[in-house]
Amino acid sequence: MEFILAPKAGFCFGVKRALDITLKTAKEHAGPIYTLGPLIHNPQVVQQLEQRGIKVAEDLSDIHEGTLVIRSHGVAPDVLEEAASKGLQVIDATCPFVKKAQELAKKMQAEGRLVVVIGDKKHPEVAGIIGWTGNRGVVVENPEEAEKIETGSPIGVVCQTTQPEQNFEETVRILQNKGTDIVAHNTICHATRERQDSAINVAESVDVMIVIGGRNSANTKKLARLCEETGTPTYHIETAAELQQDWFKGAKKVGLTAGASTPGWIIEEVKRKMEEMTNRDEGMNMEKALQFK
Ligand code: F3S
Repeated sequence: MEFILAPKAGFCFGVKRALDITLKTAKEHAGPIYTLGPLIHNPQVVQQLEQRGIKVAEDLSDIHEGTLVIRSHGVAPDVLEEAASKGLQVIDATCPFVKKAQELAKKMQAEGRLVVVIGDKKHPEVAGIIGWTGNRGVVVENPEEAEKIETGSPIGVVCQTTQPEQNFEETVRILQNKGTDIVAHNTICHATRERQDSAINVAESVDVMIVIGGRNSANTKKLARLCEETGTPTYHIETAAELQQDWFKGAKKVGLTAGASTPGWIIEEVKRKMEEMTNRDEGMNMEKALQFK
């Protein structure tokens, strides 16, 4: 049986960076360390962090002392101010790509533009970006919502980093048709798209596809859906313990991918268990397994 790991799988740059910063903080700082919401959407990683004394707080009001790590999604400036006023030490692990969107939103707001953020209204990254406009910006999820915007003032656009390119372009086109002065910054990060394209390519060439990642991870669920849509039987698992031998019955090629919040050690575990379940002597093609980009 041949195994193929998608060339782009697992941690993205921003998630890896946030995790490294958090672990470094835990080593260097005495006292309690908190993240506001889970650092990443992977229960196994969150559990490991808890074992190292890094706790998840759902709200700033639950934290009274210690260090607060800002996760890769970023937060609004009032959260940073409130944390500082409570005497907390703040370590900012906001992904630099998200930071860029925040800064552009702030700048365009200061220039007198109505800031339009294209993205998911409920996503914390979007709430954070809106915060940098002094909560004066508006969020639109798609071209239909953009159609309803009424403005006489110039418009400045940024988007959630994980937005599909097509939604950004079509939504901007609707705003351009309003005949007002508009500046649009494409702040999409390509890590998501690269993982999706890579997963689809592998899924199209194998008999069975395994997608690893948290069940609460939107990007992993999307990867699983896209793989399923290729017609290849696809299984979404969180850990190696969920693998079932009969999934591989009669399969000659098995594909593997993982969401942007899945650590390398979980991918390795799954790989090992799959090796045990199938005939080791049939040859593995997993050299790429350790290259997480
Ligand atoms: Fe950053 Fe892109 Fe990951 S915005 S957190 S590198 S998906």
